[in-house]
Amino acid sequence: MADVPPSVKGMNDILAPEVSRWHFLEEKARTILESFAYRELRTPVLEYTPLFVRSVGEVTDVVEKQMYTFDDRDGRSVTLRPEGTAPAVRAYIERAQWNREPVTRWYYIGPMFRHERAQRGRLRQFHQVGAELFGVADASADAELMAMLHTFLVELGLPAAEIQLSLNSLGEPGERAAYRDALVAYLTTHEAKLDEESRRRLSTNPLRVLDSKNPDVQALVANAPVLLDTLGDESKQRFARVQSLLTALGVPHQVDPRLVRGLDYYTGTVFEFKTNAGDLGAQNTVGGGGRYDGLVASLGGPQVPALGFGLGIERTLLALREPAENFEPALSVFIAPMDTAALDFALPIAHRLRVAGVRVEIEHRGGSLKSQLKRADRLKARLAIIVGGSEVAARKVQIKDLATGKQHEAAEAEVESKVRGLLD
Ligand code: HAM
Repeated sequence: MADVPPSVKGMNDILAPEVSRWHFLEEKARTILESFAYRELRTPVLEYTPLFVRSVGEVTDVVEKQMYTFDDRDGRSVTLRPEGTAPAVRAYIERAQWNREPVTRWYYIGPMFRHERAQRGRLRQFHQVGAELFGVADASADAELMAMLHTFLVELGLPAAEIQLSLNSLGEPGERAAYRDALVAYLTTHEAKLDEESRRRLSTNPLRVLDSKNPDVQALVANAPVLLDTLGDESKQRFARVQSLLTALGVPHQVDPRLVRGLDYYTGTVFEFKTNAGDLGAQNTVGGGGRYDGLVASLGGPQVPALGFGLGIERTLLALREPAENFEPALSVFIAPMDTAALDFALPIAHRLRVAGVRVEIEHRGGSLKSQLKRADRLKARLAIIVGGSEVAARKVQIKDLATGKQHEAAEAEVESKVRGLLD
């Protein structure tokens, strides 16, 4: 037999029972985001490449190394979206959304694509729940957004004690530029101790050196000037307000002055949620985000402040301990017809039950009662409806409660009400 071409590395099929955990998470996301007045935005998975280069930033890992970029058949460069913020901003500008709704709250759930080294919790097609809020400059929106994400994680079942929220402020662009100069001056005096990657970043994107995983560079960075200390009074007060509102909202948090995040569009508050819960290993950042007050204008829209977050669905699910089977909807009824005449009699009964919303499997392949009941058991059915020759002749069925073993008879017309009574 010929070998089947394998799935693409780092891209997974998601099937039952695991898919039930996805449904659970997605439903929770919709419920919570909608109660915070967010509405769903669906954008295409493909965008023209310059959208990401200009927003995420030319000198970022995502743009330099990770994008799935290719020319489409018209010869234009397109990219599978590596993240959801840039497409949301593009849609916001193209629709002149500020004229329709000065405060726009959008959320999205869908696949993102990054050509990273695949490992546990790091995929090439992964999925995010994300939200973007346009049109509010006040620090209260920053706290509200983080509190919403915190609530979502708790509602999913992550123990609050195992959720860590770190935040930082990158300040105003002018403040960051001044800090950048100070950081470059410091790092340049220690250039010999930098690795090749950090040396390259020193000239292209020096703040990213703060993110280095190399222990020697980390040691150097530990004594570097701290961005938060260099911020002006207004930025400091704003950041203090974000923190006091988080406290008022009951969200534990800690300031991490080295948190810079990997995407260039951020201004002001940035944050990340990590957790030690479950099975995450090294990739324990489940979500992150922040303000990007300059992005709408830099992509050609008006000056509109904005902020948002992205949460990795795969990583979040790895953190949940509850086994997938617990999320699977139970099968209510298994119908076991003993022969073809019984199948013909039972199929319309199955159909009526299904149309009425009862979850029903019917055996189309025949087989002994024993083998059929075994399958009903494996499918964890609550009831079995057994139909043999005498049932067909009398136009009735036997309904067996598989938990108690008790058997009930029902005439064809009473099946639905009887089933409902037994399921309640
Ligand atoms: P991000 O930090 O690049 O931010 O991604 C957000 C989350 O997506 C990460 O915390 C992680 O859980 C998940 N993630 C990222 N890459 C992978 C991967 N290769 N495999 C599995 N999961 C991954 C953003 O994408 C921003 N758009 C968030 C944002 C929205 N900022 C403002 N608004």
